[in-house]
Amino acid sequence: MTARSSLTVVLAAGEGTRMRATLPKVLHPVAGESLLAHVLAAASKGEGARLAVVIGPEHHSVEQEVKRLRPDADVFVQRERLGTAHAVLAAREAIVRGADDLLVAFGDTPLISAETFARLRAPLATGAAVAVLGFRAADPTGYGRLLLRDGRLVAIREQADASEDERKVTLCNAGVMAFDGRKALQILDRIDNANKKGEYYLVDAVAIARDMGLEAVVIETSEDEVRGINTKAQLAEAESVMQTRLRQAAMEAGVTLIAPETVYLAADTTFGKDVTIEPFVVIGPGVSIGDGAVIHSFSHIVQASIGKKTSVGPYARIRPGTSLGDGAKIGNFVEAKAAILEEGVKVNHLSYIGDAEVGANTNIGAGTITCNYDGFGKHKTLIGKGAFIGTNTSLVAPVKVGAGAYIGSGSVITADVPDDALALERSPQTVREGGATRYRESKLRDKKPKGA
Ligand code: UD1
Ligand code: CA
Repeated sequence: MTARSSLTVVLAAGEGTRMRATLPKVLHPVAGESLLAHVLAAASKGEGARLAVVIGPEHHSVEQEVKRLRPDADVFVQRERLGTAHAVLAAREAIVRGADDLLVAFGDTPLISAETFARLRAPLATGAAVAVLGFRAADPTGYGRLLLRDGRLVAIREQADASEDERKVTLCNAGVMAFDGRKALQILDRIDNANKKGEYYLVDAVAIARDMGLEAVVIETSEDEVRGINTKAQLAEAESVMQTRLRQAAMEAGVTLIAPETVYLAADTTFGKDVTIEPFVVIGPGVSIGDGAVIHSFSHIVQASIGKKTSVGPYARIRPGTSLGDGAKIGNFVEAKAAILEEGVKVNHLSYIGDAEVGANTNIGAGTITCNYDGFGKHKTLIGKGAFIGTNTSLVAPVKVGAGAYIGSGSVITADVPDDALALERSPQTVREGGATRYRESKLRDKKPKGA
């Protein structure tokens, strides 16, 4: 069987006013990626899958996000919000080009899985003209109701237009629909706005298809999966559903999560074999974790690659652009940013390593700071392999420390240190014999008159 071609039209012209945010609704993140990114990834997958996104006027940032995710996508602007069918037809140019299937998804419904979209498309290959994603709503108020006669889908009725009996129906429209690509335009062009709200309703496609003697079917899924997002509270619920899924998938892939409900992952986090993540770890976007790595509690990692058998934390912050080599060890209260640490590097305590490259097996002592910022620009610290950076060293960048070099504790290093050299920058220590005793006695003498 040859793969069927498909066009996915994602409706993202929503105003999102109930989010009370400057950010357009579909750009809000769930598990480190925008709502739109989730929808595009699940709805438009595989070869021969074309994509069109319908956005609102002046939504340049939404257009940018689409182009970032899918440079091949067509973006259409719906100038006036006249309803979901009107929005789909904003992408007419793409629909006219033809596809076996036309799938319509909403940009603010990020939890529908790729499997469910595939399930929805399946009946089109066997003769249905329209397939509707349905669910049993705990409270159907506000949703379009799926009306069946003799077990066959005959129409969808929006809340405002539904009779009292129709409102009792709990089988609801999730909003996502799939069409036989060769019949889609004929159906869509027949949709009018003769309803209470005066909108062009996509849902009318069902009754129209029936009128044309075509088949319409319902594919059911769970209510959890079809949650739409209108408010910040619903955004948080979606985050929670998504996190549960990601934790489950990670554990199924063999990751040990000691307290899964306390670990936050991103949709694109990748894991090797035998990874352990302790409680209360937050992983942002763009993180890969190698085989056998252990992420200890209270660590925060974003856009970084963690090598094999690497140990991070507890209480470590790994910031964007950081790469930790195999067997590296990052201990408590260590922050790394844009730092390339080769294999076996140890930074065990209380350090900041930013804009730096550190050669294999170098040991960085407690309290070492790369002074990478001079108030104007960022500068690099380069440390060779097998070096030893003593405790409480400041490395004032730009600066180079050679391979095998040794830096004495407490040094402020401002000039390059050659390979295998020992650098020490410290004022000479003075020792006064008996000085402490004399000091205490003088303090006690000063105190006496009060009590005496
Ligand atoms: C829609 C369905 C309803 C279903 C519900 C599920 C229709 C007519 N109704 O209702 O049956 O139960 O979703 O959540 O389809 N949009 C545009 N341009 C428009 C109008 C809408 O882009 O002119 C987009 C919105 O941004 C949103 C989606 O289409 O992403 C759905 O629109 P919305 O107004 O939220 O429809 P509902 O009333 O929720
Ligand atoms: Ca809605």
